[in-house]
Amino acid sequence: MPIALTGIKPSGQPHLGNLLGMFRPALELARQYDALYFIADYHALTTLHDGKALRAYSDEVAATWLALGLDPERTLLYRQSDVPQVMELSWILSCFTAKGVLDRAHAYKDAVAQEREVSAGTYTYPVLMSADILAFDANFVPVGKDQKQHVEICRDIALRFNHTYGDILVPPEPLIREEVQTIPGLDGRKMSKSYNNTIPLFAPTAALRKRVMQIQTDSTPVEAPKDADASPVFQLFRHFASAEEAADLRARLMAGGTGWAVAKDALFQAIERSLAEPRRIFTTWMEDRDRLHRVLAAGGERARARAERRMRPVRRAVGAGA
Ligand code: TRP
Repeated sequence: MPIALTGIKPSGQPHLGNLLGMFRPALELARQYDALYFIADYHALTTLHDGKALRAYSDEVAATWLALGLDPERTLLYRQSDVPQVMELSWILSCFTAKGVLDRAHAYKDAVAQEREVSAGTYTYPVLMSADILAFDANFVPVGKDQKQHVEICRDIALRFNHTYGDILVPPEPLIREEVQTIPGLDGRKMSKSYNNTIPLFAPTAALRKRVMQIQTDSTPVEAPKDADASPVFQLFRHFASAEEAADLRARLMAGGTGWAVAKDALFQAIERSLAEPRRIFTTWMEDRDRLHRVLAAGGERARARAERRMRPVRRAVGAGA
């Protein structure tokens, strides 16, 4: 079975955009691939300098995977920082990475453009990401469009390494998720933590309702016909309702006589219906951290064994170690 690997940075609470854009498609993919899904906590360290928060977010990401149905026996779930081989490989790969390539990486260029102070970690982010991928011989890397360049950089690095030492590393390919449709946030822009317009995945019922009610709508009067497709309320509704329910609400909005408050209530009900059970499971995991940490520890052990298998020929090739 081909290997699919992807990482999530634990830098905030997972939201509906992550569910629809990432978690659900990844769980679907895990049926056809040898899937490795990890928590990229050392990547989050480029921006999050609060140990307690980083640990809490890492736990949340792990509990989210489990709540949404990831089976840790079949899919390898682990925390990046539990696999020191990745850090070791990262250094080795950095010696095969042209500085010019990193100069052209979007994330770094954006940081420079915004005149943010750029750490060496942000600059070498693509190298660590390459190590994540190459330590596990991943054939495919499911990512959003924004990460495509990073996977291409990884491929480049693998080929350069192999050019010197022979075919040791497996050059991966990105598996770009065609954005079925951008998931809109409260203000209609793409749902994103950086816009502060997200609906958290496992917010308690009352908080979820409040968030849904905050979705921006125009001031069309109740009686007037409304452009359902242009509204984030309806765009989100479609993802949580059946085709018939969506067609029905759409027709009612277009006909006039149905206000946005009614539509928001329908959206709230639909989200609540589909997430109540995963939220219950999520809460159970978060309330039993020892059990959660045991799952991560077991994943970490298997991940280290796999990465170690890849590292032996790498060390031998470069002339490191015994
Ligand atoms: N950089 C990715 C992101 O921000 C997260 C990530 C880290 C990753 N390492 C990875 C994704 C390896 C795929 C493969 O979304």
